[in-house]
Parts: sequence; structure tokens; C-alpha cells
Amino acid sequence: MTPLLDRRARPLRDLRISLTDRCNFRCGYCMPRDLFGADHAFLERDELLSFDEIEEVVRAAADLGVTTVRLTGGEPLMRAGAPGLVARLAAIGGLDLAMTTNGVLLPRHAGALAAAGLSRLTVSLDAIDDVVFRRASDSPFAVSAVMAGIDAAVAAGFDTVKVNAVVRRGVNEHQVVPLVEHFRGTGHELRFIEFMDVGATNGWTGSEVVPAAEIRAAIETRWRLEDLPARRHGEVARRFRLADGTAQVGIISSVSSPFCGTCTRARVTADGRVHTCLFSSRGTDLRPLLRGARHEGDLRRALAGLWNRRDDRYSELRAAGGRVEAPVEMSYIGG
Ligand code: GTP
Ligand code: 5AD
Ligand code: SF4
Ligand code: SF4
Repeated sequence: MTPLLDRRARPLRDLRISLTDRCNFRCGYCMPRDLFGADHAFLERDELLSFDEIEEVVRAAADLGVTTVRLTGGEPLMRAGAPGLVARLAAIGGLDLAMTTNGVLLPRHAGALAAAGLSRLTVSLDAIDDVVFRRASDSPFAVSAVMAGIDAAVAAGFDTVKVNAVVRRGVNEHQVVPLVEHFRGTGHELRFIEFMDVGATNGWTGSEVVPAAEIRAAIETRWRLEDLPARRHGEVARRFRLADGTAQVGIISSVSSPFCGTCTRARVTADGRVHTCLFSSRGTDLRPLLRGARHEGDLRRALAGLWNRRDDRYSELRAAGGRVEAPVEMSYIGG
């Protein structure tokens, strides 16, 4: 089979699938409470892709070359039966199955996720200080609830987890060193992420981005860093190890140094729209195809057609100062 490539010769390798638009956190950069309050209309059950439909999409994507499937949200563990879906996707075979979660439901589900065949877990944690954490996540949970989730993951057999911290100026930038301090010696891989202008709802301004170089410099006030090689083509994080060998950290420079050139990912929203870029405003609704009369291979052909036409490189264009289409529709990216 000729490999499926987009207009910039990038293959389709990763699929991020949102299981729900709901979350038990209200991180200001993702689901600010004034926009996602009690009267917010979340998706109805029949608007969500069913597990049958998700499995069908993943099978079609796997036929087209997808090797990694990452389940996200909102908070993916708020979707009832998530481990059962993992088991169904694991049965397809040959897929690296990952999940990005805020962690607080892991004590309940980590065992089932491991048993179902989930390969990797990423937990979001923006601060180690409770006051900062509660402010950033706008949730009743304490940092210890996330730590309990990470511990549950380890107990369930995930030897290491990745920990994602989105760094936002004026909110948690002073948490970089304490986070490294905390995770030193645990084997978990901490990754700092530049705050991105994803979604039209998070009031992004460039002045809130703490550039990767500054994050690195903050860590280097305490520890010498050594570069580590990328583990795979298209890895989003630049990786370092503390020279004393106690930790590996990654820095994801989506804003200051975009990686569109190697971007091999597509995302599927909880209501079944495919976006070929995190920032694309126009998703393609797969539900008419999934829920209508169709022939064998139609879904695969539709996905292949979308990927063939893909020319996205939003972050590169913005970094180059060019005119870019304003991000609108995706109001959260999940986890
Ligand atoms: P693996 O490389 O498979 O471990 O996953 P990942 O790093 O892609 O997944 P994760 O959900 O942990 O994403 C971490 C961060 O990477 C996100 O918060 C984003 O900042 C960034 N990121 C992930 N996907 C994209 C993307 O498609 N475009 C851009 N610009 N940033 C992305
Ligand atoms: N900028 C950077 N990262 C973000 N995330 C969510 N919104 C943003 C944003 N605007 C992070 C989450 C999670 C990962 C999937 O994306 O914290 O760790
Ligand atoms: Fe990929 Fe779009 Fe992100 Fe660029 S901006 S890395 S094309 S998702
Ligand atoms: Fe929930 Fe993750 Fe968004 Fe925070 S970033 S509100 S934990 S989906």
C-alpha cells in the first residue's frame, strides 16, 4: 500500500480521540468557569460517538497507518466504561494506546485501564503548591488527589507516567523548580508546556507564554541539564536529563519553536468531528457517515481524503508572523 501522506508529505500516525467534553476541573486556560458554568450545554449522550463508532474510526485509521491512539477529553475518565473501550481498541492489535488525564479518577480506574491494555498514561499537573493548583484548576481537588492518581497508576503496573505542566506567566511559572524537585528520583517524566492559544475561549495573550528557553533557564538555576535525543520522529517535547541523573524533563515549545513540520496527528472530538490541526476551526463531522448507510471502506476513504488535502501548519505561520485563521471551534484540548 502506498503510504498516506498529506500535502506536506507528513504521514498520519497519531489519533487523539476525545471521549467527552466534560471535566471535573475548570482550568482557566481550557474550561474557564464563566464559560463552562452550570448552564453550559454539554453534549448529549446521543451526540457523543458510541464505543462502536470510536472503534470503527480507530480501525479505519489503523488501516491508514495510525500507530498511536491517545484518549483525551475533557476528562476521559468521566466517560463511563472508558476501560472497556481501551480493551476493545487493544483487541484491534498493534496499537500504542495512551491516555491524557487529570488523574483524580485514577485511583478508581488505573487497575482496569492496565488490565484492558492501556500502554501509557499522561497526567496533567500544573502546580505542586495547593493554593496555586486550586487556582489554576479551579477545582475542589488538592494536589494530593492527583498524586494519589499517579501512585495508583504505578501500583497498577504503569512503571512511569508522563506529567504535563502548562506554564502560564503570572499563574504558575514559579512552580517549575518545585515540580522538578518533587518528581526527581521518581522515574516519572515531567514535561513543561508553553501556554498555547488553542480555543477562542481562554483569553490567550502572547505575554502569558513562558518561552521554552526561560523554562530551561529556570531549571538550570538549580540543576545542570544535558540534552537527550528524541525517541521518535515527531516527538513534541525536547528532552533533557538532570546531570545528576535524578530526572528527565521535557519542554514542549509549541509557541516559540513550533513543530508542524513533523506533525503526524489528527484529532477526533467527542461528537465525532475530525480536525487535522489542533487549531483548525473547521472539523469534519464523521457522524453522518458513521450513522448513515455506507459501504465497506467508505470511512477509510473519507479519512484518507481529508489527510490528503491537509496543509495545516498554524503554529509555524503564526510564529513567522503571517496571517493565520483565528482558532475558534476547539474550546478545549483535553486532559
Ligand atoms: P506522546 O508524544 O504520544 O507522548 O503524546 P503527546 O505529548 O502528544 O500528548 P499530550 O496529550 O501529553 O500532549 C502534550 C502537549 O503537547 C499538549 O499540551 C500540547 O501542548 C502539545 N501538543 C500535543 N499535540 C499537539 C499538536 O498537535 N499541536 C501542537 N501545537 N501541540 C500539541
Ligand atoms: N496550552 C497548552 N497546553 C494545554 N493543555 C490544555 N490546554 C492547553 C493550552 N492552551 C494541555 C493539558 C494537557 C494536554 C493534553 O494539553 O494540560 O496536559
Ligand atoms: Fe500540528 Fe497544527 Fe499543532 Fe502545527 S499547529 S503542530 S499542524 S496540530
Ligand atoms: Fe479538564 Fe484538562 Fe481542560 Fe483542565 S486542561 S479543564 S483538566 S480537560
